Amino acid sequence: MQQVNLGMIGGGTVGSGVFHALQLNGGLMASRIGVKVNVRKVAVKAFNEPRPYPISRSLMTTDWQSVVNDPQVDIVTELVGGTGIARTMVLTALKLGKPVVTANKALLSAHGEELFAAAKKYGTNLYYEASVCGGIPIIKSLREGFVGNRINALYGIVNGTCNYILTRMKLEGADFAAVLADAQKHGYAETPPDLDIDGHDAAHKIGILASLAHGFWVNPKKIHVEGIRQISALDIKFAGELGYTIKLLGIIKRIGGGCQVQVSVYPTLVPNAHVLASVNHVFNAVFVRGDIVGDTLFYGRGAGKDATASAVLSDLADAALDLKSGSKQRVPPFVPHECAGAVVPIENVVSQYFLRLNVVDRPGTLAKIAAIFGAAKIGISSVIQPEGHEGKSVPLIFMLHYATNGAVNGALKKIGRLPVVKGKPVMLRVENFE
Ligand code: HSE
Repeated sequence: MQQVNLGMIGGGTVGSGVFHALQLNGGLMASRIGVKVNVRKVAVKAFNEPRPYPISRSLMTTDWQSVVNDPQVDIVTELVGGTGIARTMVLTALKLGKPVVTANKALLSAHGEELFAAAKKYGTNLYYEASVCGGIPIIKSLREGFVGNRINALYGIVNGTCNYILTRMKLEGADFAAVLADAQKHGYAETPPDLDIDGHDAAHKIGILASLAHGFWVNPKKIHVEGIRQISALDIKFAGELGYTIKLLGIIKRIGGGCQVQVSVYPTLVPNAHVLASVNHVFNAVFVRGDIVGDTLFYGRGAGKDATASAVLSDLADAALDLKSGSKQRVPPFVPHECAGAVVPIENVVSQYFLRLNVVDRPGTLAKIAAIFGAAKIGISSVIQPEGHEGKSVPLIFMLHYATNGAVNGALKKIGRLPVVKGKPVMLRVENFE
């Protein structure tokens, strides 16, 4: 049987997971694809760093360059993370014409355009299934399974930490800070948690998916990102009373007939009857609407050593097959094909809304607020106000009809200045998947 040699950079959680998965199922994979992937060297930070699975000591080195430059190494995995040295590692391998498999979403988000161009220039390939949603084969699905579709919409729960926190807040009626602290204590959230809870990790993934789906490289700065810090137990409770569950959704939506695309990440009210409302705890899910295929759904673990290893093995199989067939770009990593594509500014995106205000329960309050919405031509679809708080502060919940984000933000600025409105209004968007 033909054999290809793998040089691994990174032998921590993900790296050792890949090593273990290859030990476990490398033979099975070889019998399926007709090529054996043989681990030749593993560059590690330190021989004794903690890792969930052991790596044979004889394969380990602390010199990553000796791995990439080894003439016997045919394929390189970059499982180091970060956007600094990882970029140099990937570029070094690509310049040598060696295919690279990476799980690094931050690197692709920041430097994807440059790295894909380098892969093309040096006649090799860059595989990145593990960079988005761990074990869910969403890259392969978009690139190959849906190659004959325009992707009209994609909605993703792509951050397990946020989904875990929001799920527990809903089930326990608990506040954000308490659930976050407990999640950190039990290892379900990183310390510091900012990359996850402020939506940036989700934005990295959504940017990669948007670029792949729409054929133009989405500048991460154009992605509108909001995290879940500001979500309170009250928002979850009132959303529930209205028949919705709050999820951090990545949204990629074609607007109009051209290639103007909404690309955003924000906490969203999802109808309880929609399948994404039932995706709980650390699980991820991606809902893809193609113009030919219609609606499809992908569900699975988005992180963790084994789910990520599964995705890396899938890429290794592709890389090995590409080497075997002598066509290193058999499946091109990313092909720019939509020069007119652009991300629509959030102010112009149309949505429905949930608003929570804290107001003084006094005659005329509702009328003042309704007048501002009326003047901005924003329709109110429902209002909730708990009874029995006359003269005191009380939550006032509005559901608004379709309006642009710009119009709603303009109205909210005026509403926030009314003396009867206490504190900052909370605005969340509602997605009805129409
Ligand atoms: N921290 C991410 C999550 C996994 O919580 O989903 C890696 O992207």
